[in-house]
Amino acid sequence: MNGPRILLIVGGGIAAYKACELVRIIRREGGSVTCVLTEGGTKFVTPMTLAALSENPVHTTLWDLKNEAEMGHIQLSRQADLVVVCPATADLLAKMAAGMADDLATTLLLATDKPVLAVPAMNVRMWLHAATQRNVQTLRDSGVEVMEPDEGAMACGEYGPGRLPDPSEIWHAIARCLGHGPEGVVTDDLGGLSAAMIPRGLRAVPAAADPASPLVTKGEARGAPSTDPNALELVPLGDDPLPLFGKHVLITAGPTHEPIDPVRYIANRSSGKQGFAIAAAAAQAGARVTLIAGPVHLPTPPGVERIDVESALEMAAAVDGALPADVAVMVAAVADWRVARSADQKLKKQGDDTVPPLELTENPDILAGLAHGLRRPPLVVGFAAETQDVIRYAQAKRIRKGADWIVANDVSGDVMGGDANTVHIVTADDVISLPEMPKGDVARVLVERIADALAE
Ligand code: C5P
Repeated sequence: MNGPRILLIVGGGIAAYKACELVRIIRREGGSVTCVLTEGGTKFVTPMTLAALSENPVHTTLWDLKNEAEMGHIQLSRQADLVVVCPATADLLAKMAAGMADDLATTLLLATDKPVLAVPAMNVRMWLHAATQRNVQTLRDSGVEVMEPDEGAMACGEYGPGRLPDPSEIWHAIARCLGHGPEGVVTDDLGGLSAAMIPRGLRAVPAAADPASPLVTKGEARGAPSTDPNALELVPLGDDPLPLFGKHVLITAGPTHEPIDPVRYIANRSSGKQGFAIAAAAAQAGARVTLIAGPVHLPTPPGVERIDVESALEMAAAVDGALPADVAVMVAAVADWRVARSADQKLKKQGDDTVPPLELTENPDILAGLAHGLRRPPLVVGFAAETQDVIRYAQAKRIRKGADWIVANDVSGDVMGGDANTVHIVTADDVISLPEMPKGDVARVLVERIADALAE
């Protein structure tokens, strides 16, 4: 078996049933799964179900003499390539953050020397509680990969963040944790190849013309010889590593909505397309990408961790929570002002000529705060949408905001919402002007330059 070996720890929450689907996906992709159930987990799924799906024994207790004699819990925690905690309940996250080891799951988590991916799922209030957020931060600071939960209707009837992400999203995250980057998941470009089918230490690239090379043909079995121009070749990761592999890229995108009352808000025309394209390009270059998105109607690019926010204040908090990062690319069109005191109830017409006075107050400048802050990423890139004197304004903005680069774009045409962009990358001693091109191409050029800058 070449595929990844996953130790799956299933916590006690209603989302535990989705762990069954995750086991199926991992196995379909060629991986193997050994399941550990917490006591709470056994209330939601049975060991029998997970044993049948994983075709492996399921472990539930520290005090199993037979297992201790045959394979101790230390060994169990180390013979996997990745430990996945799914669902990670508030209680399990708290125990992990505190380093407790009072049952099999927590003992394995403390004893493991392998990377750990936690997939939280819980009630929205529990997720947003300061204690849980503190625990998540502690875990992230100590190297645990903690996925963001999805937002939506919950089993308990409330609405908000806390839902377990879709099992296919979890598989994307697993592939990234295993170092396969976004090509590690099934894509058309790989002709159905998946992370699990690519042996560790190798990656798939378009095949060289050499007919003697070990070819992988789209849609055919690995190792089949081919003269197909679409053939893929497996090469060592080390020979041509993904340029942003191991880097954390933090991106903001889209507009912000500043509430006036519960039904009205101040907005702008940003579509989020350029920021999302940069997130996609960075993920393709192998980075771990956190995309903090204002309200937009765009799908999350594969391999990208997305955090949805509404207002500038929420975006600022999300940026802070996502640090540290190696690069920050602030593409969002953050509203400069918000309503000083948004109303709790819908504002009503008074029946006379009076209009409600809207007092505005300035929003924090997220880019400037980050660039001047103590946890400044080594490379900070801002965007500047201008309608005149584009380069001169961008040069001044770069210095004022403390950014390393400003990507200036002329938005006098239909750039906002359109698919093409004309940009100038303004650095301390250079201005690189690109011709008009699709936003995806702008993103790829920018990501290449970011990778070069980090390599220096
Ligand atoms: O000042 P201006 O809005 O033109 O600056 C644009 C750049 O600053 C963009 O990178 C944008 O994401 C960032 N910005 C920010 N927070 C604000 C305003 C702008 O991060 N409040």
